[in-house]
Amino acid sequence: MNSRTNLPMTPALTTRLPAVGTTVFTRMSQLAVQSGAVNLGQGFPDFGCERSLISAVNHAMQADFNQYPPMSGVPVLRQAIAAKIAALYGHEYHVDSELTVTAGATQALTTAIFCCVHPGDEVIVIEPVYDSYVPAITLAGGVPVPVEMEVGANGYSVPWSRVAAAVSGKTRLIIINTPHNPTSTVLRAADMQALTDIVQGTDILILSDEVYEHMVYDGHRHESVSRYPELAARAFVVSSFGKTYHVTGWKIGYVAAPAPLMAEFRKVHQYNVFSVNTPMQHGIASYMADPKPYLELPAFYQRKRDLFRDGLNNTRFELLPADGTYFQCVRYDKISTQAEAEFAEWLTTEIKVAAIPVSAFYQQGKESGIVRFCFAKKDETLALALERLGKV
Ligand SMILES: Cc1ncc(COP(=O)(O)O)c(C=O)c1O
Repeated sequence: MNSRTNLPMTPALTTRLPAVGTTVFTRMSQLAVQSGAVNLGQGFPDFGCERSLISAVNHAMQADFNQYPPMSGVPVLRQAIAAKIAALYGHEYHVDSELTVTAGATQALTTAIFCCVHPGDEVIVIEPVYDSYVPAITLAGGVPVPVEMEVGANGYSVPWSRVAAAVSGKTRLIIINTPHNPTSTVLRAADMQALTDIVQGTDILILSDEVYEHMVYDGHRHESVSRYPELAARAFVVSSFGKTYHVTGWKIGYVAAPAPLMAEFRKVHQYNVFSVNTPMQHGIASYMADPKPYLELPAFYQRKRDLFRDGLNNTRFELLPADGTYFQCVRYDKISTQAEAEFAEWLTTEIKVAAIPVSAFYQQGKESGIVRFCFAKKDETLALALERLGKV
């Protein structure tokens, strides 16, 4: 007899997220492990962070920075963030009232959505869209309004006239992401002007996901929303130390916003996480005293991007531009007519290189014949993947 059969019944509950199942990232990572594939699917580095960053966190623990920090983050870290933003983007956020340290960018994004979206409010998202935004909008009772990026010979771009057409009397928030996951598109000054033209004179807020702010290539600058006063006055700007310092598992990031928006953000934040672990905040603050790691990040990843693209040029994949992030999208129509998810599974199980189908970033699963690789990997990992992809 099964010893579990006599256990009390667990009551059924009605899901608040009926559309959500296991994510494609989890599925592809599991499949990569089962198949012994090189995992270029999920976006994380397979190399370590600088030892001095670990020492800085160790030092903070040894120095007994181990109790609850202030709800908004330890002052030295908020000071370091404010100084970085002022130096790079020329916007001075107030250290006490305009910056909050969060449990990764994900929590910053969700909390920002919760604090400003009321039931029935519309939120414009640009598809392909990072997977955490729409569930957060749904939980808040909001209505996601997707606008698809255009994809042509020069890669993906945001059709701002369609964004403008999607604005209604109910639009509360527009979410942008630059540099963009999964397409690697980097918004330029003209994009920021187009966005400004759309929101100026309205009470629409902006949530700007800038977790890849230090991964912009070919000499271009990152067009942070914080550079643009008209946009910054209505924006939550989000970043992630996980991406910048090769520590995605630390789940620590921050949000910057004008004081009235930040006051609302903190109302939700304090009952959501309250605060973020103390020693890492101190460790990161002291590591940030040297700007070199983030100033040198574009060159570091651009070299990997070029190495990966050079290798892919000898395959039957067709490269899309990769102007930022650590992702490379490719077309595979010369190789297969399969749907993206099937092709990615085949690539993982048969060719032993895992990729992510871009269709997973559309609510309706749009098929474009494009998959995404992550090149935040050791050179030898990229070389092994390229050797296998060359045989396709
Ligand atoms: C566009 C985008 N936003 C947010 C995140 C989440 O960042 P974090 O790990 O700091 O929560 C990611 C991680 O992949 C991302 O690609």
